[in-house]
Amino acid sequence: MAEKLIIFDTTLRDGEQSPGASMTKDEKLRIARQLERLKVDVIEAGFAASSNGDFEAVQAIANAIKDSTICSLSRANDRDIARAAEALQGAASARIHTFIATSALHMEKKLRMTPEQVLEQAKQSVRFARNLVGDIEFSPEDGYRSDPDFLCRVIEAVIAEGATTINVPDTVGYAVPELYGNFIKSLRERVPNSDKAIWSVHCHNDLGMAVANSLAGVKIGGARQVECTINGLGERAGNCSLEEVVMAVKTRRDYYGLDVGIDTKHIVAASRMVSQTTGFVVQPNKAVVGANAFAHASGIHQDGVLKARDTYEIMRAEDVGWSANKIVLGKLSGRNAFKQRLQELGVQLESETDVNNAFAKFKELADRKSEIFDEDILALVSDESVTSEKEQFGFVSLAQHSETGERPQASIVFTVDGKEVRGQSDGNGPVDASLKAIESHVQSGAEMVLYSVNAISGSTESQGEVTVRLQNSGRVVNGVGADPDIVVASAKAYLSALNKLQSKSDRVAAQG
Ligand code: KIV
Ligand code: ZN
Repeated sequence: MAEKLIIFDTTLRDGEQSPGASMTKDEKLRIARQLERLKVDVIEAGFAASSNGDFEAVQAIANAIKDSTICSLSRANDRDIARAAEALQGAASARIHTFIATSALHMEKKLRMTPEQVLEQAKQSVRFARNLVGDIEFSPEDGYRSDPDFLCRVIEAVIAEGATTINVPDTVGYAVPELYGNFIKSLRERVPNSDKAIWSVHCHNDLGMAVANSLAGVKIGGARQVECTINGLGERAGNCSLEEVVMAVKTRRDYYGLDVGIDTKHIVAASRMVSQTTGFVVQPNKAVVGANAFAHASGIHQDGVLKARDTYEIMRAEDVGWSANKIVLGKLSGRNAFKQRLQELGVQLESETDVNNAFAKFKELADRKSEIFDEDILALVSDESVTSEKEQFGFVSLAQHSETGERPQASIVFTVDGKEVRGQSDGNGPVDASLKAIESHVQSGAEMVLYSVNAISGSTESQGEVTVRLQNSGRVVNGVGADPDIVVASAKAYLSALNKLQSKSDRVAAQG
């Protein structure tokens, strides 16, 4: 049997650090459930000590998820570690991930600590954590730019204190594959007790090499855990992308000789969920999950694929959850067919009421749009009005008038705590008028920091999916709305963002 490569997903922690990608507790929980469906080995659910919101998110995920190990990040101090352990109490399998910077630059300029103080703090923290939880990961932050002699001393010491995983981050994305692979290899050779821990790689994508560096850390360095995020989400240029690293190891098993436990057919649904929740759109030519990843546009390629798929295809689209854009359901489809399709797409709604709501939305859509694609269904189930949770604002109807040479006018009806209200406004365009019509009533004072429209499936018959990012009093939230009418989609997205801004639950803050 081949050795296993552990997949450690940090979408909910390092991914969420991306400015504008912060998620609510419920959003994090929904993504965690999808990660569990994917059979991710370890889910880094957040940084429990950083805010009450993050603590609650880690706690909720630890209580709900049973098939993956749940991890909380923690700085190397007793308070952070105790808080992480407290949040993880309900987990079937818990891990504390503690870190402290070890590069000369970070120790001197950021921590203002001597190397000896850092070494002592790392040891003391792992010792403290080990008394609370059996599974301890230690990361020397900015490890790749650290002095190798010092790094070896720190790693040897924390393994002796009980660290079970050693993660070597390329925090600033400075590494290149061969050098990073050899760096890990040399650390493993030089640290006398290196065989007592699993070695892990954690690469950032500043030079576009996060996946290549991670794979080199595995192949050359002998690492057996990769830290990654869905869609490569993360600060700056992001983290190593889960879907790319997993499909590389699976597709080139002949070269890597390792097994991964990921159930790849849930990858596309996971990618879509993360993109919709954060408003970070996936580029069409993105490997594995981009809309064009399996499209063959040129005549020669199409001809080859029709004769034999493997002429131009190294992976099968359906193996990662694409369903070839086929028409799945129509106006006459029944509830059972709809429910079965949801199951095939890996979508699990929380209750029968949610399934009924989703089915009603599906019927509404099928009346207006003759062909319903999987993408439409996925957009539909991520619509907040499908879930039985009570939202403050809900869309009812919209009328707008625009004509060349005239200033557009919009009139909107929406609910506030279940009561219908009406707003009216003009604007630069129909979208602007509609959102101003909502604001004429709500007066949220929020600033819009992003507005984007994306066609869910190829044609002009497609539903438009709109993402709106609002900022108010230091909080940044995303709202997403889908509809064949992009002005309606914009209004839905705006109301969804307002719901998140108004929500009483503590927001999960991005971590530094
Ligand atoms: O990039 C990094 O160094 C990190 C650590 C906290 C593991 O995210
Ligand atoms: Zn990182």
